[in-house]
Amino acid sequence: MSSNIISFVHSGKILEINNPDPNETLLNFVRTKLKKTGTKEGCAEGGCGACTVVLGELKDNDINYKAVNSCITFLPILAGKQLILVEDLISKDNLLHPVQEAMVKCHGSQCGFCTPGFIMSLFSMFKNYSKFKKELIKDSIAGNLCRCTGYKPIIKAAKSLQKKNKIDHFAKNKKKTITLLKKIGNKSIAIYNKNKRYFAPRYVSELKKILKKNPKSKLLSGGTDLSLAVTKDRKDIESIIYMNSIKELNYINNNRKYIEVGATTSLSNFEIYIKKYYPDFNKILKRYGSIQIRNVATIAGNIATASPIGDNLPLLLALDSQVVLQGTKKSKILPINNFFVNYRETKLKEGQFIHSIRIPIFNKNIFKAYKISKRFDDDISSVCAAFNLLIENKKIKKIKIAYGGMAEIPKRAIYCERVLLNSSITKDVINKAKNALEKDFLPISDMRASGKYRKIIAKNLLEKCFLEINEKKIIGIHS
Ligand SMILES: Cc1cc2nc3c(=O)[nH]c(=O)nc-3n(C[C@H](O)[C@H](O)[C@H](O)COP(=O)(O)OP(=O)(O)OC[C@H]3O[C@@H](n4cnc5c(N)ncnc54)[C@H](O)[C@@H]3O)c2cc1C
Ligand code: FES
Ligand code: FES
Repeated sequence: MSSNIISFVHSGKILEINNPDPNETLLNFVRTKLKKTGTKEGCAEGGCGACTVVLGELKDNDINYKAVNSCITFLPILAGKQLILVEDLISKDNLLHPVQEAMVKCHGSQCGFCTPGFIMSLFSMFKNYSKFKKELIKDSIAGNLCRCTGYKPIIKAAKSLQKKNKIDHFAKNKKKTITLLKKIGNKSIAIYNKNKRYFAPRYVSELKKILKKNPKSKLLSGGTDLSLAVTKDRKDIESIIYMNSIKELNYINNNRKYIEVGATTSLSNFEIYIKKYYPDFNKILKRYGSIQIRNVATIAGNIATASPIGDNLPLLLALDSQVVLQGTKKSKILPINNFFVNYRETKLKEGQFIHSIRIPIFNKNIFKAYKISKRFDDDISSVCAAFNLLIENKKIKKIKIAYGGMAEIPKRAIYCERVLLNSSITKDVINKAKNALEKDFLPISDMRASGKYRKIIAKNLLEKCFLEINEKKIIGIHS
């Protein structure tokens, strides 16, 4: 039985919303209905972190805390979760939370507009980790922008948390919160609000039935792309099917030949797993949006957008990955190389969804990936490149190269690959391969980069790849 009531835990109580508007953002609800205005709206597109709140979710009889951008989170997603706002951090006896105390002591706030967002990002770090190293701190606040304080005092505040007592009032009340979360459970949701519908199935079997009846529905995973249609383009999405309640699709399996990533696995979980197999994949994901984005966004969502600048896509192309598509009756496995048809167009048909992605494991290959963007953190690529090569006896025996940002879809560099295949690496071969990229791509100019810049960068990344391999003495570049 599906419910049209959204139940969630907030401030030690269960709250319920009857049949909400599925297009309302969590930020709007928090500020206008809960009347808690500590959470701010800056950009309304997930880019500044001012609206950061923390969601608590049950996991193995414990609570997993996730920082999310409430401006691009639809309200019904709250179902079954704990909502933590900046107002909730102060204890009942009016004591500041250790994170707030640290920010005050280290002068981490000037005008204060960004401060609630920073506090919530640091709170999530404080709850999820026991050691706060520099890299973790940088990662935790990469999705928060500050115009006036500057980041030094905030980083200092974050470092000082190491010495603080970890037993805050959330830890003291954890048992009670777990009981409340168990009580509301993870129900299937079906909302009909005026002309809008929202479904959150819990099982694939349920999803198939809903899809059959509502084939034109928009599938919603992390919503980090889809929600912008509402918050930026001011459109309505009439029918939504939320995927991320389906635990069956939240998995990473490995049969030694390939890694299979279920559609609802978050990028933050995937980035940890993939590090062992392809460290460069992890390196790119670390610069993918922010923690708030990666906590909810999925590879499936990234693939389905077919965005020419989707960062996973050139990497998955170079690794010869496969997309597992599921319809209401049949499933189909497609090489990702055949999946992108046109600008933001894929082979996905009405009534189908991405079930999982299979990424082959190449034990003997070298895999390298590079992202070039205007800003290092939380920025979309101008160009992203991925190289997957097998070198034997100083010759390239197998090679797959793919680029994002160079064409209307993420694409393999077929002509360039042909020059390099079965070649020894000489300066001449590298130059020929660089020139072949001109045949592969005719990049456009836009706000991120000019076509000319993109061409130069693409060539330089190819050269960088070989220079780095050369440094490891796997090849010896000669003239
Ligand atoms: C601030 C910000 C920073 C970002 N930074 C980056 C970045 O650095 N690199 C980058 O590549 N992208 C970036 N993005 C874009 C976005 O985060 C990605 O495209 C993301 O992977 C989308 O995944 P999602 O789960 O949020 O998809 P959603 O927004 O839920 O969905 C996106 C599309 O995929 C479809 N879809 C979702 N799940 C499925 C499924 N299982 N089967 C079929 N179709 C499905 C939806 O219907 C929709 O059309 C950024 C976005 C924001 C807002
Ligand atoms: S308001 Fe900027 S990230 Fe939400
Ligand atoms: S304190 Fe003013 S924007 Fe950060």
